[in-house]
Amino acid sequence: MNIIDIIVKKKNKQNLTEEEIKYVVNNFVSGEIKDYQMSSLLMAITINGMTDEETIYLTKYMLESGSMLDLSMLSNVVDKHSTGGVGDKTTLVISPIVASLGCKVAKMSGRSLGITGGTIDKLESIPGFNANLSKEEFIDELNKIGMAITSQTDNIAVADKKIYALRDVTGTTESIPLIASSIMSKKIASGSKKLVLDIKVGEGALIKNIDDARHLANLMIKIGKVYNMEVICVLTNMNLPLGNNIGNSVEVLEVINILYYGIDNNLTRLCIELASLMVSLGLNISFEEAKAKVIEVIRNKAAYNKLLEFIKYQKGDITRLPKSSKIYEIKSDKSGYLVNLSSLELAKLSGELGSSRKNKEDAIDYSAGIIINKNINDKINAGDTILTLYTNKDSIPNINISKLFTINSIPNNNYTLIYEIIKG
Ligand code: URA
Repeated sequence: MNIIDIIVKKKNKQNLTEEEIKYVVNNFVSGEIKDYQMSSLLMAITINGMTDEETIYLTKYMLESGSMLDLSMLSNVVDKHSTGGVGDKTTLVISPIVASLGCKVAKMSGRSLGITGGTIDKLESIPGFNANLSKEEFIDELNKIGMAITSQTDNIAVADKKIYALRDVTGTTESIPLIASSIMSKKIASGSKKLVLDIKVGEGALIKNIDDARHLANLMIKIGKVYNMEVICVLTNMNLPLGNNIGNSVEVLEVINILYYGIDNNLTRLCIELASLMVSLGLNISFEEAKAKVIEVIRNKAAYNKLLEFIKYQKGDITRLPKSSKIYEIKSDKSGYLVNLSSLELAKLSGELGSSRKNKEDAIDYSAGIIINKNINDKINAGDTILTLYTNKDSIPNINISKLFTINSIPNNNYTLIYEIIKG
């Protein structure tokens, strides 16, 4: 077998066999297959797709490229994953909520991918935070405080770690089989048998339309079934950014604001729904009962206290979040209602301010990012600040304000936060 034949086969829209997929995964991990060859194959897969069968084999060999965590000694274990969005800090809001209700949240998270941020980058913006837990530390923390978030350890879904980093810099992030195998290999390897998947749809997401989101949802549910895993997929709107802050340390600040002050925005509302689904799965109770519990632990700050406990346990110092040296305000030049915020353009701008990577080796400026000072449909006066930009760069890129947000004379009442929920 050789990699060139396999690339050409996929280029010619033919299906790969189980043996060929196994060969690719194993030899990419061992270094036999080079980054440039794998990039070429990833692009052929992105363009020509994979059958469900090929995707199930890809998941299998990505999963088997590393070790698997056995969490069977823990009760009420439940996991969540998002396909990635702009301003998406749901994991950081939801995990303490769910853990404070007696479920165990065992999360292995990733770094930024394409224009979307990554939970690990956000957490590492907290000085001292240790996002590289050993298996023993991870399980110990789950036992002691009910939640733990670690970056993919070196021996979990090893192939995914290598492939994910390559996809990020080769324009191959948006492929449905690659997303499904990436997420499911990690999720299966991390040991939970119950999973809520937040599939983001829209211009600021990897998946741009509802049909592709349904396809991805059904594929991941199908893969989950092969491994005896209960999977619920929630298809959610990613045309607007989630919440008001985009970046890394500014997103951590927003999580604190939500859990401490209970501020109400689209992020809070989504987190309540996702957390309720997780609690209902984890504790085997009805969605309504779970939702009442979720709202209560936000109100009585049990979730906020759990967040602090978790950050401290992983050695983060929340009092020393980095701050940018330069702040710029973007004001509206007209009055009306804020009817749209472009998650795509805001994500790109945030990246240019320093919050994300262009190459896999790039360092991130943790303090860079954007705070959106108004909410959708707020009444705006000319001269109001709509965005505050944070950076350490000496200048900011040329900004075309009309691409970032829209002010109109009438409000926009067409926004749907959750499109649909698909259960296996
Ligand atoms: N999240 C992942 O873990 N992998 C992807 O490919 C996309 C989102």
